[in-house]
Amino acid sequence: MDKILILDFGSQTTQLIARRIRDLGVYTEIVPGDAELTDKIVSADVKGIILSGSPESVNGTGAAPDKKIYNCTRADGSTMPLLGICYGLQRMTHDLGGKVESLPHTEYGRIEVKTNKEALPHQTHISKFLDGFRVSFTAWMSHGDTLTQLAPGFKEHGTSVTGYPAVAAHEQKPWFGLQFHPEVTHCENGDDILCAFVFNVCGCEKSWSMEHYIEELNTTLKEYAGNNPVLLLISGGVDSTVAGAALLKALNPEQVYLMYMDTGLMRKNETENVSAILENLGAKNVHVIMCENEFLSALKGKTDPEEKRKTIGDLFITIQEREVARLKLPDSYLLAQGTLYTDLIESGKGVGKKAHVIKSHHNVGSPLVDAKRKAGKIIEPLDKLYKDEVRRLGRFLGVDEDAICRHPFPGPGLATRILGEVTKTRCDILREADAIFIEELKKRKSPREVFLYDEIWQAFAILLPLRSVGVAGDERKYGYVLALRAIISSDGMTADVYPFESHDLMEISARITNSVKEIGRVIYDISSKPPATIEWE
Ligand code: XMP
Repeated sequence: MDKILILDFGSQTTQLIARRIRDLGVYTEIVPGDAELTDKIVSADVKGIILSGSPESVNGTGAAPDKKIYNCTRADGSTMPLLGICYGLQRMTHDLGGKVESLPHTEYGRIEVKTNKEALPHQTHISKFLDGFRVSFTAWMSHGDTLTQLAPGFKEHGTSVTGYPAVAAHEQKPWFGLQFHPEVTHCENGDDILCAFVFNVCGCEKSWSMEHYIEELNTTLKEYAGNNPVLLLISGGVDSTVAGAALLKALNPEQVYLMYMDTGLMRKNETENVSAILENLGAKNVHVIMCENEFLSALKGKTDPEEKRKTIGDLFITIQEREVARLKLPDSYLLAQGTLYTDLIESGKGVGKKAHVIKSHHNVGSPLVDAKRKAGKIIEPLDKLYKDEVRRLGRFLGVDEDAICRHPFPGPGLATRILGEVTKTRCDILREADAIFIEELKKRKSPREVFLYDEIWQAFAILLPLRSVGVAGDERKYGYVLALRAIISSDGMTADVYPFESHDLMEISARITNSVKEIGRVIYDISSKPPATIEWE
């Protein structure tokens, strides 16, 4: 499968470059900008390399690529096409003998760019690249440093309205540079520019599709697992459910063991729903472990959020080890995980260092996972996929739509949403109120005619350790205060409050207080993240 390799120098938009190209039908992989370009990384299927942007300067602490990049060839012996984006272009210029300087005038935001494409001869590598450009267009820039002298062999083919080089290309080699970010939606016809590099210059074939991925995944899973049992811990979230579906599709369902723990901190009917979904997918060995009593006893009297989390995490591991031992699987069994591509990329630093971050909180530092990883017995069927690709894969595999579109739910479950002590009664009250809230969101539509549940990234109710006075009939009532939270986000790192129509909130509040007698008052959380977090604990 043709591949575009992306060297990540830390730009916030590196992931976007990878996404855009995958959406064009070509597989992309991100590696750290300074990674050694071994034969394994620059494998035979790499057709071109992109050097990403960076918050650093080439004259300061900005990382340099492995020098081999400038002698790199493809499997057919041709020169490896390179595309430098912003810092990537500055890096190439600096490394190849040009000049990059910090000028007082910076370019930020939408900037007009004019190319010389009309004056160029046809059918050269440069004209093929410039095919993706309009003669003049609005680009999106964000740079402090500027090219004050191109590297030998390079020529300017596009200039920004402020007079600085915006597009450069090497006269002989398929090396290009852009001072702007084609991956950002504000860049006019940015996709066409990426297309020109990926297809016209690199000659990639469109081979990245879900059908293709499933075919490859089936072969890999079969080869890797052989006849050995495979155990997957299911949380009920979309990732582990889709990972389970992938295993069941590729392997003999008899060899797939799915384990799910009902901690008593789950949403209403969650365990029944999860079991039904897995059975629909053809699961033969579903182990549902009912451990509500163990969790509630361990949480008894605990009110400190960190202590509650630690208690849950520790108990989760203890029960997991105990139950896995009870299955008496042979030592050769493999452990599967629903790790995504983004989970493998260290967040924040941008540089794709493969820190095997284990996603669900209860698996962090699990001795079982560590031991299996050391023994090379971990399978991660989703580790090449982004979240929305996982959803697409899930649909292909016949996973229930409800499971695919579910809002995220934290590992510690309702415990992060019951402030103060977690008791069975409080869990039941919250479960009931939360279910009403979610049911209403699935019924009601926004002014755009989209179901509120689908427009909202995550919504849930929180039970406060507060009671307030009210009236019910002629009687004075002393009920709990329930908070509702609904946010819009793209990855949970930042979040905006969902702007409900006020009648929706009022009607939902009335239904909750009418149906859950312990709740006397409902409030709506209008805090964004930051400064607040999404969960309350
Ligand atoms: P915060 O509250 O940190 O949440 O703004 C960001 C996203 O992460 C989820 N979350 C968790 N998920 N284990 C998880 O698996 C956890 O301990 C945990 N804490 C928060 C939260 O629901 C939101 O989607």
